[in-house]
Amino acid sequence: MSKIYYPNAEFSKDASIPSMEAYWKLQNRALEDYEGYWKSFADEKIDWLAPYDEVLDESDAPFYKWFTNGKLNVSNQCIDRHLATKANQDAIVFEGDRGDVEHITYAQLSTRVNKMANLLKNEFNVKKGDRVVLYMPMIPEATYAMLACTRIGAIHSIVFGGFSADALRDRIDDAKAKVVITADGAFRKGKPYMLKNVVDDALKEGGESVEAVLVVKRNNEPIEWNDSIDYSYNDMIDAQSDECPFEIMDSEDPMFLLYTSGSTGKPKGVQHSTAGYILWAQMTMEWVFDLRDNDVFWCTADIGWITGHTYIVYGPLSAGTTTVMFEGVPTYPDAGRAWKMIEDHKITQFYTAPTAIRLLHKMGEDEPNKYDLTTLRVLGTVGEPIDPPAWKWYYEVVGNSKCAIVDTYWQTETGGHMISPLPGATPIKPACATFALPGIVAEVIEEDGTPTPVGEKGFMCITKPWPSMIRNIWGDPERFKTSYFSECKKDGKPVYFTGDGAMIDEDGYITITGRTDDVINVSGHRIGTAEIEAVIKHVDTIAVSAVVGKPHEIKGEGIFAYIVLKEEGSYSPDEIKSEINKLLKKEIGAIALCDEIAIVPDVPKTRSGKIMRRILRSIAKGEEITQDTSTLEDPTIVQTIEKIVKEA
Ligand code: WT7
Repeated sequence: MSKIYYPNAEFSKDASIPSMEAYWKLQNRALEDYEGYWKSFADEKIDWLAPYDEVLDESDAPFYKWFTNGKLNVSNQCIDRHLATKANQDAIVFEGDRGDVEHITYAQLSTRVNKMANLLKNEFNVKKGDRVVLYMPMIPEATYAMLACTRIGAIHSIVFGGFSADALRDRIDDAKAKVVITADGAFRKGKPYMLKNVVDDALKEGGESVEAVLVVKRNNEPIEWNDSIDYSYNDMIDAQSDECPFEIMDSEDPMFLLYTSGSTGKPKGVQHSTAGYILWAQMTMEWVFDLRDNDVFWCTADIGWITGHTYIVYGPLSAGTTTVMFEGVPTYPDAGRAWKMIEDHKITQFYTAPTAIRLLHKMGEDEPNKYDLTTLRVLGTVGEPIDPPAWKWYYEVVGNSKCAIVDTYWQTETGGHMISPLPGATPIKPACATFALPGIVAEVIEEDGTPTPVGEKGFMCITKPWPSMIRNIWGDPERFKTSYFSECKKDGKPVYFTGDGAMIDEDGYITITGRTDDVINVSGHRIGTAEIEAVIKHVDTIAVSAVVGKPHEIKGEGIFAYIVLKEEGSYSPDEIKSEINKLLKKEIGAIALCDEIAIVPDVPKTRSGKIMRRILRSIAKGEEITQDTSTLEDPTIVQTIEKIVKEA
C-alpha cells in the first residue's frame, strides 16, 4: 500500500473544488443530466455571439457535434473579453534563453494579435478555413500567430521545431497549407539555432500549396531569402492596423490540426473544433491548477505539442491568467534555471514532464533549496507515467511537502485533461492519475464493455463523448473510426479507446499502465514504431527491422531496434546504428533517434508472418519470456536473440 497524501487544508479552504464531496456532487450531476451539466458550463464560460441549438448531437456518431450552430470566436475568448478588466495585467511573461525578459499585457497582446491577423488577411489573403503551418521557436510571436489564426478563422497546424524538413513537408502537404510562419531561428543553451533553412529544405520538393513564408526575426543570423515566397514579419507588421474584427465562427468549425503518431507509418492530423475545445481548456485550467487572481502559471512544454496549445496558450489566456513562455531549456546555464525562474517571476503553478523532473533531480538534487519557491501552490506532471522516486523528490524538495501534485493524464486527441487529481480535493496516491475529472466518464473496461476487475489491466476508454474530443483525422474519416472507435464497445455502441492500458484499484483510483499499441513514449512524446521502421527500411543493407520501447532512466522510454541485415556479418552494429540515426534525423528529427540496436539473424514471427513484438519488448527489457513461443515459425530464434542482446 502506498502512502496517501491528503490535500493541504489551508489550501483546500479556498480551492475551486475544495473536497471530494464537491467533486462527487459535480460528477453525479454530470452522470444524471449529462447535457444539462455541459450546458451550464458552456453558458457560464463562453461569450456566445449567437446561441447554440443542441448541446450534443449524436446522430452521426462517432462524429459527435457539440453546441450545434453556436457562434463564438476563440481570440475573443482569450483576449477581447478580458480587456475591460485586465488590459494592464500581464498576459504573457516571456523569458528568453539568454535571460532576456518581456512582459506582454492583455492590451499589448490584443494589438499584436490584431496586427498579425490583418497581416495574414490583407497581405496573404488568408481566409476562414485556410490552413496555416507554424514552424516556430518558443517566442511570443508564436502565440500571436496562433491567436491571429483563430481571429480570422484560419486553421493552424503547428509542427514542433525539432521535426526535420521531411516531416515538416509531409505535414504541410497533408494539410495543404497556404502560409507557413517561421523564424530565422532562436537561441538554445546560449547559442543560435536555425529554423528557416528547414522550411527552405521542406519546400524544395513538395509544398506546392504554400503561397508565402512569413519569417519572424529572432536570432538575426543570416538566412537565405527567396523574394518570390519569403516575407519579413518585422518589415510588414508596423503598417498593419491594430483593429481586425474577429470572424464569427461556428462551434464545430475546425480550430486547429495537430499531427501525432499512430500505429501506422503516417502521422495523423488530429482535428479539434472551436467551442468544445476552448470550453474544456478553460475549465481544466481553472480546476486542475486551481487558478486564482494574480496567478503566474508556467507550463514548460513546447507549443508544438498539445500541452503547449492547451496549457501555455488557450487554457491560461481563456481563463485570463498570466502565462509564462520560455525559449530555453531548464538545465542551462545550470540545473537551477527553472527554480530561478520560479523565484524571479513568482510562479504559482509549475507544469512539466516526468523526463524533466528526472533530469533536474539527477543534475541537482538540492538545487531547488537555493531558491525561494514559496509562491508555488500546484505542481503538475504530464505526458508519461511518473515513477515514485521522481514523484517524491518533486513533492518534498520542489514543493516543500506543501504543494499538491497533479499527475494529469490526457492526449493530443482529448484536447485537455481527462484524469487528474484536483489539488484541493483529491487524496493523492503517488504516481497515480486518480479520478476522471467532473464530466468525464473514463472507464477501464474489456473489449465488450464489462468493467475490468480491480487490479487487472484493461482498456482505458472514455465512454461518453466530451466537448474537447478529437473530431476527425484530417482528410481521413475512416482512419478516425478505426483508430479510436473500433477496439471497445459498451452496450453494443463503439466507445473511444485511448490506446492506453490502465488499472483500477480497490478505492477506484486509476493508474495508467502505458500504451497497448505500437506507440513509444520518448520523453513524453509519442512516436510510432511503424514510422521509425518505415525510415529504417530505406537503409540499403537492412532487410527487416522491428522497433520497440525500452525503459530509459531519464527519457522514460528509449528506442530499441532489432535489425536483420541483408548480408550477415557485413557491418558492425555501430556503423549500422549511425547509418540509421542519420536517416531518422533527416526524415523525422532528433526525437526519433535509436538508443540501442541489436543485429539479429531473424525476428520472431508467427507462421503467418506477423512479428511478435511482445517477445522483442520482453527481451529488450531483459525480462523472462513468459509468452508461448510454440506458435512461432522458428521458436529457437528467441534464445538466439536473447543471447545477442545479453552479450551486447
Ligand atoms: C500519451 C499521449 C498529454 C499531453 C502530452 C502527451 C501518455 C500522457 C500521462 C500520464 C501516464 C501519460 C499516454 C497517452 N500519457 N499523460 N499522466 N501518465 N501516461 O500527449 O503525445 O498525445 O501522448 O501519453 O500514453 O496516450 P500525446
